[in-house]
Amino acid sequence: LRDKYLTAISAASDESGLEELRLQAVGKKGEVSLKMRELGKMTPDERQVAGPKLNALKDEINSALAAKKEALADAALDARLAEEWLDVTLPGRTRGKGTVHPISQVTEEISAIFADLGFSVAEGPQIENDWYNFDALNIPPHHPARQEFDTFYMHRDADDERAPHVLRTHTSPVQIRAMEKTGAPIRVIAPGRVYRSDYDQTHTPMFHQIEGMAIGKDISMANLKWVLEEFFAAFFGIEGIKTRFRASHFPFTEPSAEVDIQCSWVDGQLRIGEGDGWMEVLGSGMMHPKVLQAGGVDPEEYQGFAFGMGIDRLAMLKYGIPDLRAFFDSDLRWLRHYGFNP
Ligand code: PHE
Repeated sequence: LRDKYLTAISAASDESGLEELRLQAVGKKGEVSLKMRELGKMTPDERQVAGPKLNALKDEINSALAAKKEALADAALDARLAEEWLDVTLPGRTRGKGTVHPISQVTEEISAIFADLGFSVAEGPQIENDWYNFDALNIPPHHPARQEFDTFYMHRDADDERAPHVLRTHTSPVQIRAMEKTGAPIRVIAPGRVYRSDYDQTHTPMFHQIEGMAIGKDISMANLKWVLEEFFAAFFGIEGIKTRFRASHFPFTEPSAEVDIQCSWVDGQLRIGEGDGWMEVLGSGMMHPKVLQAGGVDPEEYQGFAFGMGIDRLAMLKYGIPDLRAFFDSDLRWLRHYGFNP
């Protein structure tokens, strides 16, 4: 019995064959187990001789099984290693990792600052019906301001009865949509893409604006100034940065102001928040009563301020990016240089 099993075990070629041998020998109904059961029928003298022998045999078989099992596992591992060999001297394959585009980064930064000031985010469509883009903002048909915008008009057949659509030329139509949606009082910003037919170092046909609007029972120009100064201080990280409000004109605000921030040029380098130069950064004003009305807000009861600024412009100023067009070239070297780690 001993020779039979020890030979078979050493010849076993896989784990399932080994398990079969285990059952045959020392399993419940295995040959060795059956012999052990017969011990009961033996005389004490016989048992004293046969018992220890059988126990020793059982131990021997069990340890042979365990040793063989380990040997088989080692062999299996060796085989796998031989097959899945790995050349550790091979150079690794690099995986391209993207960066956050400066526009996305700056939009996030701006939104976070205005969130702290109690503004939530509103949205509107980029293909806008011309009522929202113009009429509701007090720019009737034939108003000269329509020309100034270099508007992209959507193609229409001559017999198309629908209202004309445009690629929105500014984020101001979101003022109307937000008023319609929430009514007053309200405090929102609206970041997004806008379009104008224009192209040079500082103009691209698609760019980004962020609109701001606050309507309440006693909102004034002073609130506008405070909010904008808080914003610029936080955005540029410059406590007490000076702003200058210049009288201007927009059909949708009255009075209107263009806002400049303090800056200077030192050795051909722009320094924000220093010196006595000025850089124009946004348009703003008190919302025109007709605009409030168009949004369903009663101008007798409420006033509001609104402003609109170019996100791309702010990104260029904050991060020293020289050419606006590069924002939209998708040049990986540029993106790696100016992009942000996620
Ligand atoms: N919509 C204006 C523009 O695109 C900016 C603006 C927004 C001015 C809100 C006043 C109030 O130039």
